[in-house]
Amino acid sequence: MTVLDKFSLEGKVALVTGGYRGLGRAFAQALAEAGADVVVAARDEARSVEAAAEIAASTGRKTLGLRLDVTSRPEVEAAVARVTGELGRLDVLVNNAGTCVHRPALEVTDEEYDDVITTNLKGVWLPSVVAAAWMAEHGGGNIVNIGSISAQIVNRPQLQPVYNASKAAVHQLTKSLAAEWAPLGIRVNAIAPGYVKTEMAPVDRPEFRRMWIEDAPMQRYSTPEEVAATVVYLASEASSFSTGAVVVTDGGYTLF
Ligand SMILES: NC(=O)c1ccc[n+]([C@@H]2O[C@H](COP(=O)([O-])OP(=O)(O)OC[C@H]3O[C@@H](n4cnc5c(N)ncnc54)[C@H](OP(=O)(O)O)[C@@H]3O)[C@@H](O)[C@H]2O)c1
Repeated sequence: MTVLDKFSLEGKVALVTGGYRGLGRAFAQALAEAGADVVVAARDEARSVEAAAEIAASTGRKTLGLRLDVTSRPEVEAAVARVTGELGRLDVLVNNAGTCVHRPALEVTDEEYDDVITTNLKGVWLPSVVAAAWMAEHGGGNIVNIGSISAQIVNRPQLQPVYNASKAAVHQLTKSLAAEWAPLGIRVNAIAPGYVKTEMAPVDRPEFRRMWIEDAPMQRYSTPEEVAATVVYLASEASSFSTGAVVVTDGGYTLF
C-alpha cells in the first residue's frame, strides 16, 4: 500500500449533511472522487437530489440525495436506515450543516438563539449518535465535524456570539465523543475553517475586507475545495491514528 492508497475511500459510504451547496457540496464531491458512494442530505430535498445526481454523473459513484433536518431525531433515524438499506453501509459521517446569525448579543432573539444552538450543536449530536450506534455494530466508522475558527476567536466586525459558542461546543463534543468511541472503532475529528467563500460568508463585501482578508497572514479567503481535501484526509486511513483532533485550515488567521 502506497501513501496515496491510504486516502482512498473505495468501498465506503459517506453521508454529508447540508451537502448540496457551499462547503458541503465540495465535501460530497471530494469524498466521491476519493472513491466513496455519497449521500447528500439537507432540508431542501430537490437540491439534495440534484447535487447527488451531478456527483454521480461526474464521478461514476453511487449517490443518494434525501431530505434531512438534522435537528429531528425521527428524520435522522429514517435517513440512516435508508442509507444503510439502499447503499448497504455507513462508514463516514460529515456533520457539515450549520447556520449563523450576525447580531449583537443584546439584539439576538430567543428564536435566533434556539435556531443556531439547535442546528449547530444538536444537529451534530443527533446524526453522530444515530450513526455511531450503527457503526459500532458494523465494525466502526469515521465522523468529521465542521467546527470553525469562531470556536477560538471572536470574529470582527460582525458580531455572532451564539454561533461562536455553538462552534466551541462542537469542538469539545468532538473530543468527548472521540474519547468515548475510540474503543468502538469510531474516530471523531473536526475541522476549523477560516473564511470560506459560500452563502454563509460574503467574503467579497468591502466592509469585511480589512478584518477578514487583510488581517489574515495569507491575505485571502479559502475555496470550499481547499477544505474538502482535509475532509478526505480525516475520513480516510491517511489519518488512522488521529481522533479528537481539530484541524485548523484558516490561512493563518488565528495566529494573530
Ligand atoms: N463559510 C465559512 O466561512 C465557514 C467558516 C467556518 C465554518 N463554516 C461551517 O461550515 C459549514 C457549512 O457552511 P457553508 O458556508 O457551506 O454554509 P451554507 O452555504 O449556508 O450551507 C449550509 C448548508 O446546511 C444546510 N442546513 C442548514 N440547516 C439544516 C438543518 N436543520 N438540517 C439539514 N441541513 C441544514 C443547508 O441546507 P437546507 O437549508 O436546505 O437544510 C445548506 O445546505 C457550517 O457548519 C458552517 O458553520 C463555514
